[in-house]
Amino acid sequence: MSYPYQIKSLEAYHKDYNESVENPEKFWANVAENFLWKKKWDSVLNWNFKDPKVEWFSGAKLNITENCIDRHLESSGDKPAIIWEPNNPEDRVRVVTYNILHKRVSQVAQMLINNGVKKGDRVCIYMGMIPELAYAVLGCARIGAIHSVVFGGFSAQSIADRLYDAGAEFIITCDGAYRGDKVIPLKNVIDDALIGNRSIKKVIVYTRTRTPISMLKGRDLWWEDEMEHAEYQLEKQGKIHFPAEEMDAEDPLFILYTSGSTGKPKGVVHTCAGYMVWTNYTFVNAFQYQLGDIHFCTADIGWITGHSYIVYGPLSAGATSLMFEGVPTWPNASRFWDIVEKHKVNILYTAPTAIRSLMGFGLDPLKGKDLSSLKVLGTVGEPINEEAWHWYDQNIGKGNCPVVDTWWQTETGGVLITNLAGVTPAKPSWATLPMPGVQPVLVDENGNEVNVKDESGLLKGNLCIKAPWPGILRTTYGDHERCRTNYFATYENLYFTGDGALKDENGYYRITGRVDDVLNVSGHRIGTAEVENAINMHSGVVESAVVGYPHDIKGQGIYAFVIIMGHMHVNDAETRLDILQTVTRIIGAIAKPDKIQFVKGLPKTRSGKIMRRILRKIAENELSSLGDTSTLLDPTVVDEIVGGKL
Ligand code: WT7
Repeated sequence: MSYPYQIKSLEAYHKDYNESVENPEKFWANVAENFLWKKKWDSVLNWNFKDPKVEWFSGAKLNITENCIDRHLESSGDKPAIIWEPNNPEDRVRVVTYNILHKRVSQVAQMLINNGVKKGDRVCIYMGMIPELAYAVLGCARIGAIHSVVFGGFSAQSIADRLYDAGAEFIITCDGAYRGDKVIPLKNVIDDALIGNRSIKKVIVYTRTRTPISMLKGRDLWWEDEMEHAEYQLEKQGKIHFPAEEMDAEDPLFILYTSGSTGKPKGVVHTCAGYMVWTNYTFVNAFQYQLGDIHFCTADIGWITGHSYIVYGPLSAGATSLMFEGVPTWPNASRFWDIVEKHKVNILYTAPTAIRSLMGFGLDPLKGKDLSSLKVLGTVGEPINEEAWHWYDQNIGKGNCPVVDTWWQTETGGVLITNLAGVTPAKPSWATLPMPGVQPVLVDENGNEVNVKDESGLLKGNLCIKAPWPGILRTTYGDHERCRTNYFATYENLYFTGDGALKDENGYYRITGRVDDVLNVSGHRIGTAEVENAINMHSGVVESAVVGYPHDIKGQGIYAFVIIMGHMHVNDAETRLDILQTVTRIIGAIAKPDKIQFVKGLPKTRSGKIMRRILRKIAENELSSLGDTSTLLDPTVVDEIVGGKL
C-alpha cells in the first residue's frame, strides 16, 4: 500500500489545494484511482445545495470492506489490523490480523444473512469497545446493511427513539460492557428499549461481562452460537470468505444520530464511496500515516471519530488501529501512557477534555513512561485552550511531535480543517488550514462574507462551506427536508456548520464554538432543547431552560434553570436528584446538568420567548453585561435569578 496522494510539503499542500478548488472532478478522480472499484464512476460530482443533492462517483460500484480488508490480504494478511487493549490492563491483549479480520467479517456477514438481514436493512449496534464491534460494523457493510451504532452511554429511551426513527429490525449487542470499575448492563438496557416494540426481529448478544441477562426465545440469539454456525456453513460451501455485496457509490453506508438545536436527534446519513475516499484521504494526510505506524484513536466507535479514525480511515489505508476498551483514568491516570509504551504507539488522537483531565493529575503519572515511539499527536471534538495544547506538546510530545488540531463534525464524515502533521504549520488552539477540497467562508447574520477585521486584525463570523467535499452528509434519515433546513437553508448555497470562527492574516481558522443551541460537553454534542425536554419529563417541573457555561475540564458544563411546582417540592437536594435521574433515564448520564437552579420565573420577551442570552450571561457569571432587560415581560425575574445563582 502506498499513498501517492499524501501531501509531503507546504508547497505540495498549496498546489493540491489549488487544484482541488479549480478542478475538483479531476482532483478527486485522481485520488479515487487508488481504491478498489467493482466498476468505475460515470461522473465524479453532481451537486446543488438547494435541494440539497450531492453525488460523488456516481455510477461506480464498490464494497468498502474490500477496500478495508480484502485488498490488503496479499501484502499484509498477517499484519495487525486491530490491536485491542482491554479495560483491565491485566487481561489479554488481542491482535487481529487482516486475515483474521477477513474471516470474522465474513462470518458476521453470513450470520446476518442467516438471520434474515438484507441489503438496505437497518441494524442497530449497541456494544462496548471490543473487536466484535468492529466486526459487526464491517459485517453489515459487507452485505450492504446500514449500521447505526448507538453509544453505550445512551439510555433505553434514546435507543427506542433511534430504533423507531431508523426503522431498525435487528440489534447486535453485548451482555455488558466494562468501563473503568463499572459494568454497563447493555442487554438489560436493550430489553427496556424493546418494551412494547414489535418491529425488532432479532437481537444478537455477544458475551463480554457475564452479567446475568434474560434471553427472549425466538428473538434473542447468542453471537457465539451464530458465529460458529456461520463458520460451519462457510466451510461447508468451501468459501474462504463471504462475497462482498456490490454497492452503488451513493448507497447509504451508515446512519449516526447526533444532536441538533431541536429536541430530537437526527440520523446523519453517509454513503459508501465518498465517505471511504474522504476518511482515507484525511487519515493519510492529517496524521501523515506511514505504513507500519500504530495509530491510537481514543474515541468510542459510538461517535463519528471512532467510525472514521478507528475503523474506516485506518483500515482502508491498511493501517494498524489500536482500539481501547477502557477510560483514561482507570485504574489510574497513567493508563494512556502505559498503552503508548506497551504498544509503541506512533500516533495518538484524543480529545481536549481528556488532556485537561489528565493535566489535573500533574506529571507524576508520566514518570518513567517511555513515550519515545510517539510521532504525531492529534486533538478533536472541541476547541483546545492554549494551556492544554502546550501541556500536550511539551509533556507528551516532548516538543518533538507535531500536534494536529482537527476540526470536523459528524456531518462532515472526516476532518475539514487542520494542520497536516509536520507538513503545514501549527498554531496553538488554531485548526489552521482547510483540507484540499474544503472551501470555508465566514459570513455575518445575513450571509454576507465578512471582510472587516476586528481590532486584533481578525475576521470573525459564522463558519460555512461553499462546495461539497466527498465526505459531506447526504441526508438526515427519513427526513430530507430536515437536512435542508438544518444545514442548507440558513444561508443560500452554503453548508452552515453551526460553529463560529476567526480567520487570521495567514488564512488560518480558529473555531470558537457553537453559535446555535448545541452544547459541547466533554466533546459530546448535546442539544439544549433535548436536555430541557428530558427535565420537563419530571412531573414536578413546570418549565426549564438550559444553557452552557465554561467548565475547566469538560469545556462546557450544563446549567439548568428550573421552575418547579411548589407542592411537589420537598427539598432542593431531593428534587435535584430526581431531575438528574430523569435526565439519565431519558437521554443518558452524559446529559446530566452540572448545575440546577430553581427559579420562580424565566426571562421572557412579551411574546413569550425565553431570552437565553441573558441566562447564558448569568451562567457565565458575566453579570455586568446582561444588556437591556427592560423589554422583558417581567424584568424582576432577572434579579431573582442573579440573586440565587449557583
Ligand atoms: C462539533 C462537532 C468531529 C468529531 C467529534 C465531534 C466541535 C470538533 C473541533 C476542533 C473546535 C471542534 C465543533 C463541531 N469541534 N472538533 N478541533 N476545534 N471545535 O463531532 O459531535 O459532530 O461535534 O464539535 O463545535 O461543530 P460532533
